[in-house]
Amino acid sequence: MNAALRAVVRTASRHDIGVIGYRDGFAGLVKGWTEELDDRRVGGQIQRGGTMIGTSRCPEFKEPDGRARAAAQMAADGVSGLLVIGGDGSFRGALKLQEEHRIAVVGVPGTIDNDIYGTDETIGFDTAVNTAMQAIDRLRDTSEATGMTFFVEVMGRASGTIAIQVALAGGAAGVLVPEEHGEADALAARLRRLGEEGKRSHLVIVSEGDELGGVYEVAQKVSEAAGCEYRVVVLGHVQRGGNPTARDRIISGMMGAGAVEALVAGRAGVMVGMWRGQVVEVPLTEVVARGQGVPRLDMLELAQQLAG
Ligand code: F6P
Repeated sequence: MNAALRAVVRTASRHDIGVIGYRDGFAGLVKGWTEELDDRRVGGQIQRGGTMIGTSRCPEFKEPDGRARAAAQMAADGVSGLLVIGGDGSFRGALKLQEEHRIAVVGVPGTIDNDIYGTDETIGFDTAVNTAMQAIDRLRDTSEATGMTFFVEVMGRASGTIAIQVALAGGAAGVLVPEEHGEADALAARLRRLGEEGKRSHLVIVSEGDELGGVYEVAQKVSEAAGCEYRVVVLGHVQRGGNPTARDRIISGMMGAGAVEALVAGRAGVMVGMWRGQVVEVPLTEVVARGQGVPRLDMLELAQQLAG
């Protein structure tokens, strides 16, 4: 997100437009926590994880009163447009602000889950997948040395996209995701067969949103049926930090700059996303109406086909 902020500030500055950052997102809008952002302030940020202006969940902004305070704050600050980097919830809030207070908003998709309609990629996803893949490469060493099976839980609240890509990149023996039901029995049978054929250890990726519950229950059920010794690893928030990958920095630059250009040209109410390597604009109403978009079941099938 820092790389996106950098792109926003520097693109705006080429248009002679000033930028204010609201600390902790909508909370800063409601409470008036502002910070002037200029070309120098965003220097040295491109390689940093997290976000230099903070982020939070803001219950007040869900209420009309909170949004009215935010609009009043923006008027007092002389702000004429709002760029929101976030996911579905942030876009819903931004749209309400636009509808109720006629504030021009543009969205930039930022979530490690990559579950937003209208964009191939979201800021943070590639870094999260690479971080989890590196952890899995390390676990594989231990798994092969000891013969233990590792069940690794990755993030993705209601979406298995991270899990599927991590399974593909890490060469996992199995992947369990919320988009597919009843795979646990088939997975146990596969692990048992592979064990009988001489495979010494396995790596299984479990999405945190899987229908079977947490990774601990899944691991116990599958390993009992497969007859293997196991350990559980929950990667958790490790996936949300660290230096962003090149890909994340590049799309942040493209979408951050594209968002400013959209606002400057008067095209408000859109999300700036990526489609086939190009920046595209999609109406925010469509983005929130379509929810998570189409799950990549073809990628899931490939991960399962290559597992062995
Ligand atoms: O939506 C992004 C995400 O990282 C999910 O994958 C995860 O479930 C959630 O955020 C964690 O949120 P919190 O830090 O509020 O627990």
